[in-house]
Order: sequence, then C-alpha cells, then structure tokens
Amino acid sequence: MQTAILGYGTVGSELDLLLQDHKTLRVTRIFSRHMTAARDKRAASFEEILQDPAIDTVAEMLGGVEPALSYMEAALKAGKNVVSSNKAAVAAGFSSLARLAHENGVSFRFTAAVGGGIPWLPNLERLKRADRVQEIGGIMNGTCNYILDQMTKAGKSFETVLGQAQALGFAERDPSADIDGADTRRKLTISMNTAFEAVFDEQAIPCFGIRHVTGQDIETARSGGFVIRLLARSFRNADGSVRALIAPAFVPSSAPEAAVPDNFNRISCALENGGPFAFFGQGAGGRPTALNVLHDLEDISVRRAVFYQSTFEAATVKNQGFAPCWYVRLGTESFRTQPTEPEALAAQLAGKEYFAAILPEERRESPC
Ligand SMILES: NC(=O)c1ccc[n+]([C@@H]2O[C@H](COP(=O)([O-])OP(=O)(O)OC[C@H]3O[C@@H](n4cnc5c(N)ncnc54)[C@H](OP(=O)(O)O)[C@@H]3O)[C@@H](O)[C@H]2O)c1
Repeated sequence: MQTAILGYGTVGSELDLLLQDHKTLRVTRIFSRHMTAARDKRAASFEEILQDPAIDTVAEMLGGVEPALSYMEAALKAGKNVVSSNKAAVAAGFSSLARLAHENGVSFRFTAAVGGGIPWLPNLERLKRADRVQEIGGIMNGTCNYILDQMTKAGKSFETVLGQAQALGFAERDPSADIDGADTRRKLTISMNTAFEAVFDEQAIPCFGIRHVTGQDIETARSGGFVIRLLARSFRNADGSVRALIAPAFVPSSAPEAAVPDNFNRISCALENGGPFAFFGQGAGGRPTALNVLHDLEDISVRRAVFYQSTFEAATVKNQGFAPCWYVRLGTESFRTQPTEPEALAAQLAGKEYFAAILPEERRESPC
C-alpha cells in the first residue's frame, strides 16, 4: 500500500519513522509546510499527491479544520483511503467524509483522533456489532487531567501547573481548546457518532471547562471525599434519543476516574448486555498516536473493518430532564444549585467568570 503523509509534525514525522522498515506499507510522498527530514519524499503541493495514481491512501496529520477537511474530501473523491488523527476536522466534517468514503468504496479511519494512542474506536465498533451501547464517556483530555491531578496532589495553582504542562510539551501554547473543553467535546462527538450510529453536531453539546478552577474548588471537593475531573458523558435516553455533556465533576476519591494520573485518559462504555468496559492509556504523544494511525493503515491494507458505522443520519442531543445538581463558584462565593439542565445553567451563568462542576448522584437526593 502506498501512503502519502499530510503534515510532518509530532505525529506525522513519527509515523514516517515507524513505517521506514514496515513490510507492506510504504510512505511515498509527504506534504508539509516545513520539513527538515525526509526531503526526498517531499511533495510540492497537495495536488501532486491527489494526481498521483500510485498513492492509494492519505494519512492526514495537519491539524485544524481547513485545509485538512478539504484535502481529505478531495482524496476520498479521488478514490483514495483516508486515515486521520485530526479530531477538529473529523468532528466538523464527519458527515461529508463518511458519506464520501462510502460512495467511493474506500476506507475512512480516525482511531488516533480520539484517545491518541488508545485503541478505543475499533473496540467500540466491535462491541456494538452484537450489543447496544447505552453509555460512553470518561476522561478524554490528558492536559486537563494533568492540571487537575497536579492541583490535587501537589497543591499548585492552575497557572503554575498549566505552565508545567506547556514546558513538558503536552499543552499547546494556546491551551484554550483543552481547558475550555472543546477538545473533549470533539472526541465525544466522534465517539457518539460511532456508538449511536448517527452524526451529532458538536456545537449542540453543552460544554463546561476548567479555565477558572482554583485551589478553593479542589479543596471543597477534597474535604467531601472527592476529586475534580473533566468528564465527557453521553447516555441513551429511554426513548432512544441521546444526552451529552462535557463538564467537570466531583468524583469520589475511590472511583476509578479519581485514580487516573498525570496526562492519562480513561474512556469507558456500558452496553445493554456487556460491560462496563474501560480503556486506559496515553491519550496523546507522537509515538502512541502515530501507532494508532499505523494500526488503521494495517487494517485497511487487509480490508478489515474499514468503517466504524454504516448509517449517517443527523441526530440531535436531547438533554431535557437531564438535571444534575451543580457546584458553582463565582469569585470566592460557592453554592450548590437545585437540579438544573446544563443548557439552563450555561444560560444563567453566561458572561460571568465562574467554575461549575457536577455533584455526584447521592448529593441529588439531599437538598442540592
Ligand atoms: N500530538 C499529539 O499527541 C496528538 C495526539 C492525538 C491527536 N493529534 C492530532 O494530530 C494532528 C497533528 O498533530 P501534531 O501534534 O502532529 O501537530 P504538529 O506538530 O503541529 O504538526 C502539524 C504539521 O502539519 C503542518 N501543517 C499544518 N497546516 C499545514 C498546511 N496548511 N499546509 C502544510 N502543512 C501544514 C505543520 O507545519 P508547520 O510546522 O509549518 O506549522 C506541521 O508540520 C492534530 O489534528 C492533532 O490534534 C495529536
């Protein structure tokens, strides 16, 4: 199989290295802005790759929605398989990408886009074949987990720990997508598409981040026997519709999510008959992520499980009746809300600088 790499950064360059001695997979062209290595394979433009009939597969690791999405669409239309690690482009263009792949009889795989190095999507796809997914979610962003874990264990401030994460290379210079929850929301959206055989709009999922979390919040949780984690959650409602939310949560110190250290992820699911299952591992990093891209390429090369789903109808998130109690802090004042739907809470707090986290189930019974 002849593969072209788009994007020669952390993941793309690692994939090129991994494939150097591969028995059947070959990287023949690479398109990227700046390249210090592998210059002999460099393509002057994406068009060059598109027009090359010998290239049957494109591995996209550029990042961002455009031009990555247009390149992937063009590659699929030209009858080339596409593999991507780019959650922003995959979540935004899911419907068009999946349909184009089906129409053109080629594969579209994106395992590395959710959970970096964790083999989550292929296992989710396998599990749902003979069972019905009821619930998915968990810790899907390593940067946020590192910040919350370090604030809890080392008692450091948000700013100090964010600086550490940036120095260690796993938080971006602009950390907004991580700390405001958008990155987690993209991963949940892609997972929901596969789990519930539909196409969800990421913008319709309410999203609360950790930008304004303080030591006071961490201490409030700790004194009640909890730690704070940023959780993605999606459940099937009794009527078959789906609810979804990204929000920090007070997690009992004894819960498995509380034990997830540093920048690790823990993605979980429950099915009608099987489970619960959890997938723990490195949610990011050049090599683990490139390995997941490599596994997708290998699956395609033996024509195995080339899609994660077969239907692509648009579906809307239905959170009516999903009303947790919340811990909310504004300035130094904190309070517990009555049961409140996430959309209603977001509307109440719009324009304010706040931190909000879901309280655990047992607190819902008592006055919140
Ligand atoms: N790094 C991880 O641990 C990880 C984990 C999971 C998923 N991902 C996803 O994988 C993708 C790649 O991540 P990364 O960390 O490898 O990013 P990166 O290090 O920034 O690499 C991206 C590469 O693509 C090039 N590029 C970007 N836009 C381009 C354009 N329009 N034309 C030509 N070249 C372009 C960049 O060139 P310049 O250097 O000139 O900008 C860079 O070489 C992202 O979608 C990311 O979310 C990454």
